[in-house]
Amino acid sequence: MLSILLRFPVIILLFHGFCWSEEGPNYSFMHQATSAPRISYYDYIVIGGGTAGCPLAATLSQNATVLLLERGGSPYGNPNITHLSAFGRALSDLSHSSPSQRFISEDGVINARARVLGGGSCINAGFYSRASADYVRAAGWDARLVNESYRWVEKVVAFQPPMQQWQSAVRDGLLEAGVEPNNGFTYEHLVGTKVGGTIFDGEGRRHTAADLLKYANPKRLTVMLHASVHKILFRTKGRKRAIAHGVVFRDSLGHKHKAYLNRGPKNEIILSAGALGSPQLLMLSGLGPADHLKAHNISIVLDQPLVGQGMSDNPMNAIFVPSPSPVEVSLIQVVGITTFGSYIEAASGENFAGGTTQRDFGMFSPKIGQLSTVPPKQRTEEALAQAIKSMESLEPAVFRGGFILEKITGPISTGHLALRNKNPNDNPSVTFNYFTHPQDLRRCVRGLQLIENVVESRAFSPFRYDYLSLPALLNMTAAAPVNLLPRHANVSTSLEQFCRDTVMTIWHYHGGCRMGRVVDAEYRVRGVDALRVVDGSTFHYSPGTNPQATVMMLGRYMGVRILSERLERSRRN
Ligand SMILES: Cc1cc2nc3c(=O)[nH]c(=O)nc-3n(C[C@H](O)[C@H](O)[C@H](O)COP(=O)(O)OP(=O)(O)OC[C@H]3O[C@@H](n4cnc5c(N)ncnc54)[C@H](O)[C@@H]3O)c2cc1C
Ligand SMILES: *[C@@H]1O[C@H](CO)[C@@H](O)[C@H](O)[C@H]1NC(C)=O
Ligand SMILES: *[C@@H]1O[C@H](CO)[C@@H](O)[C@H](O)[C@H]1NC(C)=O
Ligand SMILES: *[C@@H]1O[C@H](CO)[C@@H](O)[C@H](O)[C@H]1NC(C)=O
Ligand SMILES: *[C@@H]1O[C@H](CO)[C@@H](O)[C@H](O)[C@H]1NC(C)=O
Ligand SMILES: *[C@@H]1O[C@H](CO)[C@@H](O)[C@H](O)[C@H]1NC(C)=O
Ligand SMILES: *[C@@H]1O[C@H](CO)[C@@H](O)[C@H](O)[C@H]1NC(C)=O
Ligand SMILES: *[C@@H]1O[C@H](CO)[C@@H](O)[C@H](O)[C@H]1NC(C)=O
Repeated sequence: MLSILLRFPVIILLFHGFCWSEEGPNYSFMHQATSAPRISYYDYIVIGGGTAGCPLAATLSQNATVLLLERGGSPYGNPNITHLSAFGRALSDLSHSSPSQRFISEDGVINARARVLGGGSCINAGFYSRASADYVRAAGWDARLVNESYRWVEKVVAFQPPMQQWQSAVRDGLLEAGVEPNNGFTYEHLVGTKVGGTIFDGEGRRHTAADLLKYANPKRLTVMLHASVHKILFRTKGRKRAIAHGVVFRDSLGHKHKAYLNRGPKNEIILSAGALGSPQLLMLSGLGPADHLKAHNISIVLDQPLVGQGMSDNPMNAIFVPSPSPVEVSLIQVVGITTFGSYIEAASGENFAGGTTQRDFGMFSPKIGQLSTVPPKQRTEEALAQAIKSMESLEPAVFRGGFILEKITGPISTGHLALRNKNPNDNPSVTFNYFTHPQDLRRCVRGLQLIENVVESRAFSPFRYDYLSLPALLNMTAAAPVNLLPRHANVSTSLEQFCRDTVMTIWHYHGGCRMGRVVDAEYRVRGVDALRVVDGSTFHYSPGTNPQATVMMLGRYMGVRILSERLERSRRN
């Protein structure tokens, strides 16, 4: 009883500052940037209200004043975000107000990045799964604080998915194919087969990183929406190293605002603009390869050739398996974690992602840019339009079935990012160099071979046509344009070629501000003061089978560490 009474005021404190309606919370601290003062001052300025930025800002606000600047709008009340059945709608909305911004890498693979408070967690497929203990060790993180931070996140956004027939058959097929043991439902990353978490609750409602702002102190946090940061400002006068001390951002009307750090040795700017946004903004602010910055007439604060290097995207390849029996609509729930560096996941059923009544393939729909029927370099606007047209003319029965996909760990192959122009709202140019490392290609081939075993398993037999062997599945293009076979003579004989030609993204791209290169072990940008990067751009490898759990964890984790450094400092002074 006493403990209940003691907890009560904490709960009130926690949930003071916003009211919850059917549309979600109406945070009292959330404003349109058009209402921002011309100049304002804070202890911390967080750039990017995404998957890492929201938990970070919420945490910092517990003991300091914080400004969170997000270029997109609020996710709340947006029907293209809030429900599982709407998956893909934001991704197929190519307008400037869309929560998703499409980009195409130089490799030719069509991809997407978030533009909304909550970031990628508002447009993604929802799978929630932690990083492995080995990953945590290699990152040099404090394992106890990592665990606490995951739990802090999970209390608000993570759920157990409902398991229906098709996903259960994939799970049992994986076990039959030897991906053992059965680890049941768990957030942990363990070799074997498991059911992972999801940010969709039992009613299919999406919970996002923006929901973590309910942990904020509403008196100390200010969130500005449609606030596009153009530049980080540095002071150099009388200093050996440049020190970040402010930012310039523009509101939706294009008006300029400046925000500065309060005076104080521990105040900082933290960049959480994602794997494309963070290296891009560092370059636009004068930190990057000197020659490249000079070519764009950007005055150099620090020649740092590693900014924008080490960009990676985990290649995804999938096989469509048509089913004689009905299947449920599911996004990723089951995952097979192999010892050879390939992860098997699956999604089933028809979807109506285009926002219309026309069926499509959800995570594998050309409407969201997934196009594996032609090799990457041939994925033109026309090819995409053609694929959408073919898909729309298919019989409803064709949509019965599911995709079994494999994503490789790492990857080892890397590329780079470069500016196209000086506008932070435009996409930079990105190259991922999929499969340039032979190990990546081997992992893909072994993943496909494992998928074949799953499809042929006894457990999966109700959901396959027995006369369709793997070569036939790979080679089904002619029969139904849904299949993933490129029109290419070599495919049925070479899985390597299949990997290269049908490569898609699972949107787990990362790098550009890697730890140990651009940032140090505490995520401080090397060579300058009062600036950190905390988001997926710091990763060497994508964590776990899917990254969002660890990105949210990292926001919380670094918030706690930065605050304790602050406390330490004030004790000493
Ligand atoms: C379609 C899709 C499906 C996915 N599926 C899954 C899944 O099922 N499970 C999983 O674990 N992961 C999934 N992911 C990956 C995961 O969502 C991302 O890795 C993660 O969200 C990245 O977090 P981040 O904080 O690094 O970047 P983001 O979440 O992208 O945050 C960056 C934020 O910064 C803002 N920003 C950028 N530049 C500026 C600027 N100049 N000024 C102001 N704001 C700026 C952006 O608008 C954005 O909100 C998926 C991703 C996508 C896109
Ligand atoms: C949210 O709250 C603000 C004031 O705090 C109010 O002006 C606005 O109308 C509210 N919006 C909704 C959708 O309730
Ligand atoms: C905030 O600061 C107070 C002391 O000023 C300290 O006791 C408390 O632990 C700090 N909270 C966090 C979350 O760091
Ligand atoms: C939702 O997405 C569709 C396209 O997928 C678009 O036409 C519509 O305007 C979007 N709605 C909102 C509220 O953004
Ligand atoms: C963190 O959690 C994992 C899984 O629950 C556990 O194996 C590990 O021992 C924990 N580590 C610490 C330091 O608490
Ligand atoms: C850089 O500045 C020079 C001289 O002002 C100009 O000629 C050139 O076009 C500029 N280049 C870019 C990329 O803006
Ligand atoms: C693959 O397709 C070609 C042409 O459509 C056909 O000749 C061949 O028999 C098919 N192979 C298999 C294994 O189905
Ligand atoms: C098919 O494979 C052969 C030998 O591996 C290769 O020389 C040829 O270029 C390939 N054809 C295509 C269209 O890729």
